[in-house]
Amino acid sequence: MLQSEHDLMRCEIETLVEKLGRERSSLMPILHEMQRKYGYIPSFAMQVIADELGIHPVEVYSVTSFYAFLKDVPGGKFTIRVCNTISCDMAGKDRVARQLEAELGIKFGQTTPDGRFSLEYTACMGMCDQGPALLVNDIVFTRVTPELVHQILEECRGHFGIYAIQEEVH
Ligand code: FES
Repeated sequence: MLQSEHDLMRCEIETLVEKLGRERSSLMPILHEMQRKYGYIPSFAMQVIADELGIHPVEVYSVTSFYAFLKDVPGGKFTIRVCNTISCDMAGKDRVARQLEAELGIKFGQTTPDGRFSLEYTACMGMCDQGPALLVNDIVFTRVTPELVHQILEECRGHFGIYAIQEEVH
């Protein structure tokens, strides 16, 4: 990361601390914001956050590595999160998961070598009556079938707009 990028990130963190507070309890909201913006928490950011909150960087690192939705390395451009809670499980989550792995050539927890796709599991997202459900970044897809997985990946690869297929599905 370049010096100017470091300066910019430091500035952003200072602004977040002003807004969200300097207490230990502000750590999660700050990490959440950084994750949303960068897709991961760079080690430089962890150091700055620790300095700003007056805590040890190891504490920031531990929190980041504890929660699955916080990353300490960049994820793919599209992070696909498949719900692995019971209703989606019973609705056929495994078929969807196997299709994703087969099409992308990676396992859950991995990112494709071109940096385009990451595969993860997530807990219930409140679409239990419409499972199997998955998220592509922040877009929800429900009643997902292996065929729809193929279509979603094609959309992500840029053939069409990802939002178009979402409307088609509902
Ligand atoms: S169990 Fe999958 S969305 Fe609730």
